Amino acid sequence: MSKIMHIVGARPQFIKMAPLYNALENSVEQITVHTGQHYDFEMSDLFFDELKIHEPDYNLEVGSGTHGSQTADIILHLEKVLMNENPDMVIIYGDTNSTLGASLTCGKLYYPIVHVEAGVRSGNMHMPEEINRIVTDKLSSILFTPMKSSVENLKNEGISEGVYNTGDIMYDILKNNLTQIEHRKRFLEQLSIKENEYILATVHREINTDKEGLCKIVDAFSKINEVIIFPIHPRTKKMLVKYNLLHKLIGKRNIKLISPVGYLEMLILEKFARIIVTDSGGIQKEAYIIGVPCITLRNETEWKETVRDGWNILVGNDKEKIIDSINSFHPKGRRKNIFGDGNSALTMKGIIIEYLNEQ
Ligand code: UD1
Ligand code: UDP
Repeated sequence: MSKIMHIVGARPQFIKMAPLYNALENSVEQITVHTGQHYDFEMSDLFFDELKIHEPDYNLEVGSGTHGSQTADIILHLEKVLMNENPDMVIIYGDTNSTLGASLTCGKLYYPIVHVEAGVRSGNMHMPEEINRIVTDKLSSILFTPMKSSVENLKNEGISEGVYNTGDIMYDILKNNLTQIEHRKRFLEQLSIKENEYILATVHREINTDKEGLCKIVDAFSKINEVIIFPIHPRTKKMLVKYNLLHKLIGKRNIKLISPVGYLEMLILEKFARIIVTDSGGIQKEAYIIGVPCITLRNETEWKETVRDGWNILVGNDKEKIIDSINSFHPKGRRKNIFGDGNSALTMKGIIIEYLNEQ
């Protein structure tokens, strides 16, 4: 039986891995390596428990650090695991430093790399994720793209071999869990919020968690009178404390700061929100699929089709634009099937097995 290694490390990667891990079960031997980039219970173990993913066979425990030290630690530790396990193929996800560390290590050792969520581009080279994506795509043998435009992006960079437009794996897991959400409205009662009467907010990008960006976002939120549910990413919490901004949010009765929540709870919060305000990539997509208007706290997005179709608006971290859009943004266009059919994991499985059989 062929041996496949999944390499993950951050919250969205556990979510993306779940459908493919399940699809490949019984067809190949699967080993999971967790880099340890995310390590708080609610950023990591919670997802392995909730999504019933086999707990990691290895945890490299690299933890937090600068881009250089985090990536270097991943390379250092992963190289040993790879040489020990000698997999037939590695599968990596998205665009984090764990993705980059894994692609550099596997590329240098000539292991075939499968990149799930290939070809996604924001066009902003000042985003760490854009660098991670470009390098990873260049080193990958199989590139699974979430959208048609991702195929074009790769073509523009001279990459066309090994590219398969499978659709977005986040749509698979969302589709499989949507039916459960209707029955779980209790969660809203627990938070004392009502359907369609709150704003869901998340913030974690580098550009929005420096002092200037965070100040503007906090100022905007503190001018809003509607209920805001704000599951706080640990980076953002740390920066709110560091820049002495936490009191501005805690002092407002309509702003509910909560710890990061599990995947299903997040879907519930998304589904019943009046509007979502976020800088997350995954949440922009989920908002579009579920059909909730999204205000994106960035100046550009990888998910341009969601903006084109009128369901997402880019406001950066401009205080006035954030306030205006919360008060006046209404989706205009019709949503389409831009993320495929929600069965991408099965398509990926077929391509992976065929590739392994040919080796
Ligand atoms: C990372 C990814 C980003 C992705 C996000 C998903 C990179 C460069 N960034 O951003 O692309 O959208 O994950 O959530 O890879 N921290 C904790 N506990 C944790 C994890 C982080 O306290 O479990 C704190 C640490 O202070 C750390 C900071 O958050 O320094 C940032 O964590 P890091 O993983 O470097 O970046 P994210 O903002 O999480
Ligand atoms: N998510 C979650 N709990 C939270 C916040 C986000 O389960 O408290 C989920 C969200 O529904 C989506 C994914 O995490 O599936 C997005 O991850 P994140 O925003 O951390 O990263 P990004 O997508 O920006 O890389």
